[in-house]
Amino acid sequence: MKILVVGGGGREHALVWKISQSPLVDTLYCAPGNPGIAELAECVLIGADEIDALLDFAVNEKIDLTVVGPEVPLTMGIVDRFQAAGLEIFGPNQAAAQIEGSKKFSKDLMAKYHIPTAAYGSFTDRDAAVAYIREQGAPIVVKADGLAAGKGVIVAMTVEEAVAGIDEIMVDAVFGAAGAQVVIEEFMAGEEASFFAFTDGKNILPLASSQDHKRIFDNDEGPNTGGMGAYSPAPVVTDALARDIIETIVRPTIDGMAADGCPYSGILYVGLMIADGKARVVEFNARFGDPEAQPLLMRMKSDIVPVLQACARGELTQTSLEWHDKAAVCVVMASGGYPAAFEKGLEISGLDAAEAIEDLMVFHAGTALKDDKVVNNGGRVLGVTGLGTTVAAAIDKAYAGVKVITWPGVQFRNDIGKKALGR
Ligand code: AMP
Ligand code: GLY
Repeated sequence: MKILVVGGGGREHALVWKISQSPLVDTLYCAPGNPGIAELAECVLIGADEIDALLDFAVNEKIDLTVVGPEVPLTMGIVDRFQAAGLEIFGPNQAAAQIEGSKKFSKDLMAKYHIPTAAYGSFTDRDAAVAYIREQGAPIVVKADGLAAGKGVIVAMTVEEAVAGIDEIMVDAVFGAAGAQVVIEEFMAGEEASFFAFTDGKNILPLASSQDHKRIFDNDEGPNTGGMGAYSPAPVVTDALARDIIETIVRPTIDGMAADGCPYSGILYVGLMIADGKARVVEFNARFGDPEAQPLLMRMKSDIVPVLQACARGELTQTSLEWHDKAAVCVVMASGGYPAAFEKGLEISGLDAAEAIEDLMVFHAGTALKDDKVVNNGGRVLGVTGLGTTVAAAIDKAYAGVKVITWPGVQFRNDIGKKALGR
């Protein structure tokens, strides 16, 4: 079959890598892809949010299955457009993608179906929002309602900080229309983890556990990023907790959305806060996590293609996935200055030496080719992902790869996976 993957980051490189191993695949395209993806798939110069052009391409090439990586095309309705044209596509439709596209939508859904999460209020009026903050006190969390590329959340330790956040979002409109509405949430303490499940709108197929590292610096310090590294499995998610998460969060979410006339199909990303052995929802996303996809897909033994196809068709009967016994750890190598401004176009050295290491994958995220050389072209540049018989061995493997790759200003965390070792 012919498959098109939409996107061009580390998550999509991992998806392309995994899909390319399926005996069911004859031709694999990726739009727009990146230099790493180009080794495995034919890259098509169409942006992930150019829905008309993607649809034309898929119709002309008779694509059998399209797999959407990022959230933006999902919230723009790429799935609705492809389905209307009779094409199979993996991901939620526009109505269901609101679970990520609108924080108020997801909080209202959780309230309606008694899904454990932080208490909240939602506001379109600045003064009402400020009054709520003063009433609740700090610490408190302020969130722009819409998509803000992972930057629309302010975890405020004081009331003043929260009010300043409201003014940034609602008055200065730093996130544009995404900030016309805000959600204000109770601060949750605990350890974060990510939980993923494939679904066709009715049936659920959970993935192995994983954990991201959101802050830029070691020991979870500094500003939030898209994610600086991830590992799987995550021991904080015990088997009992995973069953609990499915029963109290994933199942009621999927059933609730179906009952509300907006069934969710694709992969559901549940961002969790875990405290005292109980999990509460921090956020839902409508897609695979990045970088969580890198370690998860390296560990996945089952062919992913039949699963993606079954979700797209509403025929998910498979009830479990096979996983390699090994642990996987992904260390993100980022541009100097990220998550703020950074310089692009700097040549990356050591890629060949890293790629020669066994059980190691260098997934490209923000890279480009300049004069036939690979250069940095985004904040998160590479996801160096290693397998090992234990998390400790996988950490050593990933950092062995990181050690041989460099470019001016490169930054990465030195403590990816350490949390798992403490357990
Ligand atoms: P979100 O985009 O909603 O995942 O928020 C980004 C990050 O902010 C999360 O990964 C958490 O680290 C933090 N965060 C969000 N909501 C809360 C909350 N209610 N309590 C504590 N931290 C939060
Ligand atoms: N790893 C965080 C995200 O994908 O949003």
